[in-house]
Amino acid sequence: MAFPEAFLEELVEKNPIDEVVGQYVHLTRKGNRHWGLCPFHNEKTASFSVVPDLGLYYCFGCHKGGGVINFVMEIEGLEYPDAVRNLAKRAGMQLPEEDQRQASTLRRKERLWELCRDAARYYHRMLKIPEGQPGLKYLLGRGLTQKTITSFGLGFAPDGWDNLKKAMLTKGYTVEELQDAGLVRTRKRQKQNPDGSLREEVSTYDWFRNRVMFPIIDVRGNVIGFGGRVMDGSEPKYLNSPESLIFNKRKNLFALDKAKKTKMGMLVLTEGYMDTISMHQYGFDCAVASLGTALTSEQAGILAKYTRQMVLCYDGDQAGQNAAKRAIGVLEPTGISVRVLRMEGAKDPDEFLKKFGPERFQQLLGASEDQAIYQLETIRRKHDLTVDDEKVAFLKEAAEFISTMSNQVEREVYCGRAAEIAGVKRDTLMVLVEQNRKAKVRTAKKKEERKILRPADQVQPADSSIKYENVRSAMAEEGIISQLLLEPGLLTQTEGLKEEDFSSPLLGRVYGWIRNRWQQGLSTGVSAMAGDFQPRELSHITRISQKYETVVNEKALGDYITVVRKEASKRGNKDLMAALERNLGKKGYGG
Ligand code: GTP
Ligand code: MN
Repeated sequence: MAFPEAFLEELVEKNPIDEVVGQYVHLTRKGNRHWGLCPFHNEKTASFSVVPDLGLYYCFGCHKGGGVINFVMEIEGLEYPDAVRNLAKRAGMQLPEEDQRQASTLRRKERLWELCRDAARYYHRMLKIPEGQPGLKYLLGRGLTQKTITSFGLGFAPDGWDNLKKAMLTKGYTVEELQDAGLVRTRKRQKQNPDGSLREEVSTYDWFRNRVMFPIIDVRGNVIGFGGRVMDGSEPKYLNSPESLIFNKRKNLFALDKAKKTKMGMLVLTEGYMDTISMHQYGFDCAVASLGTALTSEQAGILAKYTRQMVLCYDGDQAGQNAAKRAIGVLEPTGISVRVLRMEGAKDPDEFLKKFGPERFQQLLGASEDQAIYQLETIRRKHDLTVDDEKVAFLKEAAEFISTMSNQVEREVYCGRAAEIAGVKRDTLMVLVEQNRKAKVRTAKKKEERKILRPADQVQPADSSIKYENVRSAMAEEGIISQLLLEPGLLTQTEGLKEEDFSSPLLGRVYGWIRNRWQQGLSTGVSAMAGDFQPRELSHITRISQKYETVVNEKALGDYITVVRKEASKRGNKDLMAALERNLGKKGYGG
């Protein structure tokens, strides 16, 4: 997809990167750099930065980076052309003609999101009219409160073949759109004409009928599909939306839009919609569910973005426990810690909560709490608390331990416990803990800064697919690229240096790209690269631009070029030798 250069330049200019990023990340300005919490990985101190002057963003923690187009690609999960369209829309720019004629995937998606939201509204409204009373009765009968029903936007699909279809057609949606969203299905039937010949009759009908409806909402808050449950024992018990342009079961989790905001310091994965909703109603706002399938690696990756602690809360039966085992395997590569919650006396969390109440459930969840208490106990046993000095030592050590907990509420709770043990006021201990905590955060930041200042740590690219074969040469190549990114005019000094002289194919490509564009008088910044480099490549290029000194240094550039040439000629010699050997071998001089 090639957009005209002038259009792209205007697009980048009209979408200042700090403003665009600022829509997603709270940024604080320090000098020429804006800092915030990285939206691409989980962190507590800001290592994500934006440099408006250079039109780039870069995270010193996870090494993601690039320009404004690339940012939108990464954060919205869009392909390059759709990210460009998104930014054009934001800036109120007219799209180039050729592109306008092409139906954009993004626009189609937006239309389907809108349709699903309207369908959800429709189903929800049904609960308030006489035809929908069976649905409302069912939901209330399952112990859900009106508040829960509203907050999850639950609803009812009335019995009948075309209720939703009619309502949505009135709203201006087409049958085709209803089909694309999986809300209606097509039926083909053979009919006989009066003359005996056959014709095919195509009709459409509502996919969800006489079911209570659970809207499935993605992390960004779009309604992307539905689960519908029968109200009696008929089959299938649950019916889900089919996969569509906007609904991918592998990549979404039920209620993650809510659970991502939890303060509980963990996410709990359940098997069913009802389990998750029930947990939220009882105050466990950390519950999510997979969408009627086993946990996928995509879902695991998404979960890892939002938490470091997963608790699996599957059904108590054998099937549930086997599923839990599989899920552990799927979560393992993400590095998040996983615990399995064992339920007894109830089939699933929904049933457990109703039968035994939230306190008992909290106890189940508290396996980690037990571990913290165990630690506090261990510390206590080291000290004789009847002696004042020892009491102080205990409090210090306890404060040290508690300050490692990342969750504020958790810290308060354990301060209470420890204070109780020592017979002092909780607030006294809390002050000590928060002091420790601040010091810890400071040290972590310093360490991170030191790491940034020591490029030796970061010789190899974060993405292993761009591994450097010749580190010595690659370092010099990085130097050349960083200088050219700073000042493409330096290309007058690189005469004779060829793309093939670069040992890293990516860096060679970047060099060629900059030279090409510079010769044509086009912009050569990171913000112009999104169309020609993969996001992971762009991250690496941005990293290079952030790794080196930010002043033009012609002497250094000269040195870099010398190294690259020398290494290239060594490689050339080696290749020559290898070719010679192969030739000699063929002729039988080998031995
Ligand atoms: P309730 O009976 O409403 O409490 O549901 P449950 O969550 O206890 O039911 P179950 O353990 O049987 O199902 C767990 C999850 O599997 C559901 O939330 C659905 O996502 C999915 N599921 C269950 N039955 C079916 C089915 O018949 N078809 C499909 N596609 N998915 C199902
Ligand atoms: Mn259940």
